[in-house]
Amino acid sequence: MEKMHNEDTVRKVERRDPVCGMDLSEYLEFVEIENQENKFYFCSDICAKRFKTNPKKFQGEPLIHLHDVWKVFGRGDVATKVLRGINVHIWGGDFTAIIGASGSGKSTLLNMIGLLDNPSSGGLFLEGKDISKTTDDERAILRSKKFGFVFQQYNLVPWLTAYDNAILPLIFSGSDSREKRESTRKHFENIGLVERMDHHPTELSGGEQQRVALLRALANDPEIIIGDEPTGNLDSTTGNKILEMLIDFNKREGKTLIIVTHDADIAERADQIITLKDGKTIPGHLYHRKIYTE
Ligand SMILES: Nc1ncnc2c1ncn2[C@@H]1O[C@H](COP(=O)(O)OP(=O)(O)O)[C@@H](O)[C@H]1O
Ligand SMILES: [Mg+2]
Repeated sequence: MEKMHNEDTVRKVERRDPVCGMDLSEYLEFVEIENQENKFYFCSDICAKRFKTNPKKFQGEPLIHLHDVWKVFGRGDVATKVLRGINVHIWGGDFTAIIGASGSGKSTLLNMIGLLDNPSSGGLFLEGKDISKTTDDERAILRSKKFGFVFQQYNLVPWLTAYDNAILPLIFSGSDSREKRESTRKHFENIGLVERMDHHPTELSGGEQQRVALLRALANDPEIIIGDEPTGNLDSTTGNKILEMLIDFNKREGKTLIIVTHDADIAERADQIITLKDGKTIPGHLYHRKIYTE
């Protein structure tokens, strides 16, 4: 049933991997499978295997879909094409890792997925709705409803206590309630920081600050958690703890997790790896040490 193609004749034929979303039109080696008399094409065995676990799901609408997304910074001679036609599917409940060399556009891509920035061109779909041309205000509303963010920099407000930092999104989104405050307090207990709740960020270690930043990201019970190298500033033991919390959130609560990481071990735990190179995604979703170190 499965065969590999390697013929010039397949060039320019519209083929899209239903799992990862990659455009295979100009890609000569792909995997083909038949399912109920329909043919499907995949960038690799990895996607083909995932498809077989749940063909119906992967014929439906992904949670997030980037269609031929370009991002160009600057104009004319100084224009930098950072993303050059990205096609990506992100499925609800998945843990997706974005990897690639420094400067390959990981943060740019993640900012687009998290609605922090607009593509220069292309479609960005959230639950099937094109949001690539929404206004800043509309994006801000969607963002605060659906997304939680954790960055390498903790970005805590220095004059607020740990607890006040963690409940900040509730106040911004107007969803402040006794229940939500109570659940934030419980979270502080769960992560062993209840004694630190009234401390200011400068009185906390890096790991503690990042845990507070994580609680802040979770305050609104977001569907999607976005992390840009969230453990990049931490020692590996502390970083791993943060990561376990994120993965736990993904596995236990079924929330979608998308993180940029430099760490191969982390990426290998993901359901899907997106590897960026020269402004495009590369097929196979494997961790390529060469790309990482070059
Ligand atoms: N606002 C911007 N203006 C101009 N160039 C930018 C901007 N943001 C990012 N870039 C450039 O885009 C490239 C990719 O950046 P980034 O997405 O931060 O990469 P990564 O996160 O993979 O290290 C870099 O060359 C960077 O200098
Ligand atoms: Mg980055």
